[in-house]
Order: sequence, then structure tokens, then C-alpha cells
Amino acid sequence: MSGAFELDGVRVPFDDGDTVIAAAARAGHEIPHLCWHPALGQSGACRLCTVRVDGRLAAACTTRAADGQVVECRSGDLDERRRLLVQLLFVEGNHFCPGCEKSGDCRLQDAGYAFGVTGPGFEEFYPRRPVDASHPDVWLDLNRCILCKLCLRASREVDGKGVFAISGHGVGTHIVVDSASGLLGDSRLAADDLAAHICPVGAILPKRRGYAVPIGARPADLRDPRDPRVAVHAAAAPAPAAPAPSAPALPATPAACGAATQGPEADD
Ligand code: SF4
Ligand code: FES
Repeated sequence: MSGAFELDGVRVPFDDGDTVIAAAARAGHEIPHLCWHPALGQSGACRLCTVRVDGRLAAACTTRAADGQVVECRSGDLDERRRLLVQLLFVEGNHFCPGCEKSGDCRLQDAGYAFGVTGPGFEEFYPRRPVDASHPDVWLDLNRCILCKLCLRASREVDGKGVFAISGHGVGTHIVVDSASGLLGDSRLAADDLAAHICPVGAILPKRRGYAVPIGARPADLRDPRDPRVAVHAAAAPAPAAPAPSAPALPATPAACGAATQGPEADD
């Protein structure tokens, strides 16, 4: 059944089977997210997309759109929840943005700016996590992993390989690699797999591409900081220069949800 729902006062049409976030994205309104990707199935790992649907909190990436729904996305209390989530992700891992090749094109960093994260807010864990440089073309740094599961899902659903999986519990939860040695270099990951390019942070990076897009020319550098419509999702866009030659193209970036009703003072 198709129809339309209301997103922060804006009418959004949907098709049968659409989730709220997918319908919103297709209509050009982005709901903040870290673990959703239009080419992959549902996950619900990050909860950054939590909205209020007819007054009840729900993940926009796992909630089916329904006719007449009223969805609240960018209200102060929801953005405050998002700010706390982002802060927790920052202190749970080792995210040293100034020294990270992903800086300027990182969804976590971008969300930090968008939601006004100015400091850790909690005590940092500073966990000791391994770096796997065994693959000839791809670098894996678990210190920066936010457990969004995008690489797992991309490898399984699109690449047809299942190179990545999750292991452990609680603070020990981590990504593992399907190979006899446990090393990425012994896995079936190929440089042009979607899983090798989908990481929203700097945990999975192509080798020999450092500073291919120079500081100052990255998505966050090119954004007008006064424009709230692009604050959250700019890192979802492909890099301005060509990504790795055979990297699968990511979808075009829609505008942020609530752009029509959001004032310039919000979030950044
Ligand atoms: S390695 Fe990257 S894509 Fe995979 S779960 Fe961690 S943050 Fe997500
Ligand atoms: S985008 Fe919905 S839970 Fe991550």
C-alpha cells in the first residue's frame, strides 16, 4: 500500500514496503543515521535514526511507513539523544580525528559536529584493539570500528562472501574476519568489494589512497557550516575526487530531514 506520511511537517510519499528512512531519503529528506544504507537490508544497530512515530520512539530504518503517520525527526530532545549516542561512540573507541585519513569524510565525525559534540562527556575507554594490515589493498583498524555492521551486510548481501562477522559480548564485541588465520589478508575480501568501501568511519580504508582527496577538499570542508540541511549526512556523499577506481558508487545524498522547518541555529 502506498500513501504519504508527515516528516517534521513535510509530506513524504512512500511505496509499499518502504521504511520511514528509505521513503524520506527518496523524497530528498535525510534522517540522521550511521548504519543504514539503501542498498542493504535492515539492521537497527546505531539508533541514530530514532524518530517519534505517532508519538512513540522508533528506529526510522526498521519502521514501515504507513499512510497518515506523523513522524518527528529533528526536535531538540531527539537531537539531544543523538548527541549522547555520538558521544558514547567516541569514548567507546579510539577516534583521533586529526590523525585519521577519514577525517572530513567520516559520518561519526560529521555527526559529532552536527549534534554539537564539543568534548567526550564521558570517561574514555581507550581500549587496546588490533590493527590488521595484512591485506594488500585494505587496512582494518578496529580502534575506529563503531560496530555499524555495514561491512558485514555488504559482504554478505552484495559481495556474496561473508568476510566479516561480529564476535564477543558487551565492551568486548568486535569484528572478526572469515579466514583460517583470522587475518584480512587471508580472506576473500577484494579491493573492489562493497565491503571494502562502505565503512562510514576510518576502520576499513583502502591502502595507497591517503590524501588522494586533500584536506580542504573533503565533503565536510566543502559544506557551508551555516546550512543545517547538509550537516548530518555530508559524509554519505562520494568523495569529490574519484574514489578507488572500482569502488561501487554510493547513492546521491538527499537533504536532511526537517530542512523545511529547521532554523539555522539548530545543531551546528
Ligand atoms: S569496520 Fe566499519 S563498516 Fe564494519 S562494523 Fe566497523 S565501523 Fe561498521
Ligand atoms: S540507521 Fe537506524 S539504527 Fe542505525
